[in-house]
Amino acid sequence: MSNGRGPDSETGLGEYEKIDPPTSFAEQATVTDESIYDEFNDTWPDCWERAAATIDWSEPYECVLPNDEPPFEWFAGGTLNASYNCLDRHIEAGAKNRVAIKWESHLGETRTYTYQDLYREVNEFAAALRAQGVEEDDVVTLYMPMIPELPIAMLACARIGAPHNVVFAGLSADALATRLESADSEYLVTCDGYYRRGNAIFLKSKAEDARLKTPHDLSEMVLVEHLGEAEHLGETQHTYDELVSEHAGAEVAPVDRSADDVLFLIHTSGTTGEPKRVEHVTGGYLAHVTWTSQAVLDLKPGDTYLCTANIGWISGHSYVVYGPLAVGATTVMYEGTPNYPEKDRIWSLIEQNAVDVFYTAPTAIRAFMKWGAEYPAQHDLSSLRLLGTVGEPINPRAWQWYYEHVGNEECPIVDTWWQTETGGMMIATLPGIDAMKPGVAGPPLPGTDAKIVDGSGEAVPPNDAGYLVLTRPWPGMPLALRHGRRWGREGTSEIEVNGWNYFTGDGARVDEDGYITVLGRIDDVINVSGYRLGTMEIESAIVDVEGVVEAAVVSVDNAETGGVHAYVTLEAALSGDEQMRERIASHVRERIGPIATLDAVVFTPDLPKTRSGKIMRRFLENIANGEEFGDTSTLRNPEIVGELKSIVRDD
Ligand code: PRX
Repeated sequence: MSNGRGPDSETGLGEYEKIDPPTSFAEQATVTDESIYDEFNDTWPDCWERAAATIDWSEPYECVLPNDEPPFEWFAGGTLNASYNCLDRHIEAGAKNRVAIKWESHLGETRTYTYQDLYREVNEFAAALRAQGVEEDDVVTLYMPMIPELPIAMLACARIGAPHNVVFAGLSADALATRLESADSEYLVTCDGYYRRGNAIFLKSKAEDARLKTPHDLSEMVLVEHLGEAEHLGETQHTYDELVSEHAGAEVAPVDRSADDVLFLIHTSGTTGEPKRVEHVTGGYLAHVTWTSQAVLDLKPGDTYLCTANIGWISGHSYVVYGPLAVGATTVMYEGTPNYPEKDRIWSLIEQNAVDVFYTAPTAIRAFMKWGAEYPAQHDLSSLRLLGTVGEPINPRAWQWYYEHVGNEECPIVDTWWQTETGGMMIATLPGIDAMKPGVAGPPLPGTDAKIVDGSGEAVPPNDAGYLVLTRPWPGMPLALRHGRRWGREGTSEIEVNGWNYFTGDGARVDEDGYITVLGRIDDVINVSGYRLGTMEIESAIVDVEGVVEAAVVSVDNAETGGVHAYVTLEAALSGDEQMRERIASHVRERIGPIATLDAVVFTPDLPKTRSGKIMRRFLENIANGEEFGDTSTLRNPEIVGELKSIVRDD
């Protein structure tokens, strides 16, 4: 966990410094009227018309939400097409020459697609998919890196009503095979390969392996030649360029989808267990992400916007592709890593493209912080108007660094809490209205509601930690929840709460102002001398200690050195010594009680993380227990596992 707590650890009460949104920002914000909270509350669920009005419907809906119990048919009776909303309507409004996608490769090559260019290629590829036999409701799997053909393929699928199933290109052949099967998908669009940190990574061979591992055959495969490595294509394999040029100039009428029809499937990245399939529907999802792109990210037509998320994850679906394109903004796509070739790459992208809004993850911000403020200082970042973060708790120090060194204290920061399952943002401040508290996400967005409960389902008092549950359905809710399946994140299904609710699987705290601090996942419980302690609780005590950036704890079985081991990353300028070890251990004892004894504190420059930035405790457990560890290829930083092994050995 990274530090998601306020600076005051004595009382546990949130004595956060509040920061008002800069006046210059507030004056131009999309949402400026504080009464929006009351208004949404008083008129729920009809308040969500405001979100539905951000998109175009081909058939208007009859009712915002006909039932207050499942099935939740948001915008019942309405029909629409997501690709029409992201393309045609902007062209009809006269914006055909506005840039829709600005792409930059890791080598600095750029490609620019105006809305007209994007419209043309999406139509051509939609025609090509149809010609390959893809019909409405057939699932098309997209196993592709961050290249423009990925959003093009997504929008082409949306145009013909074929749900897409994007699989992150960094995942293995096995992971692809599982996802093809789970989605029952016979069509695959992939790529010969891509570059990462200067090395070519080949995808086609992984796709071929996956194909052999799935029981039902793929009927067609389309290959984008990104490296120029396509050769020996089989009969059912086609290159993207060949298909698009065969359908040059084709126009495909957008298929009318009902609000409840599936737009896409996606699998959660989960740090434990099997990936979970999540289906998002066309109407509610698109309304939710378009509305939050406007209300929270403050995106306006023509804004230039950079989100560093990979499109392989939900953040990329909602806030690289659908939200910004539905708004009519320019979305900047970057293929490479933030430190290649130099550690100022992101700042140079922002400067060169005069980016207005920047959205990234705390793990990236902590890396920027570690590299140093001199990198952003080398660039003119004055085009920035708003900054955002998502994916994990942000520690107040990282927040402050982002605010000062990237935003020059002139940009509000939105700390947005949401999940693959929620489709779009759920908890965040409205940047033109609400004061910010570093490290605290904010109140539930207008029209949504949340509660913090204990193990018996009762609400806990302000500032006490508990389980975060969402207590009102929302338009972006996934199909399974719409249909009333009890379907929460792992580890919480046994807790009963009165009324409709969705268990998020996160721990959180709410303060007197109704601001929620998200503490992290509660999946992990460890056993200490017969007591069950949440890793989250211990980790949040550790990251309270001045100088600590991140921490993960695991339990160790070994009788000699058994107990709780903590892996801790410190700020770059600090070195881990005995004094620091003692400070951490005594703080944990103080906060949780004498039972919470740390048996070892290991300092490490980094923690093993999934590609989406989640800490993988499993590898730490293997290291601590001296066990063999399996496949590290799902890690973003596999090298750290070996490094940690030698740190532990030398300690
Ligand atoms: O634990 C929360 C954390 O990320 C989880 C959702 O992960 P995923 O489905 O991969 O989606 C990531 C992008 C939305 C949550 O259950 N999380 C997300 N945003 C925040 C957060 N934790 C704290 N603060 C946030 N702003």
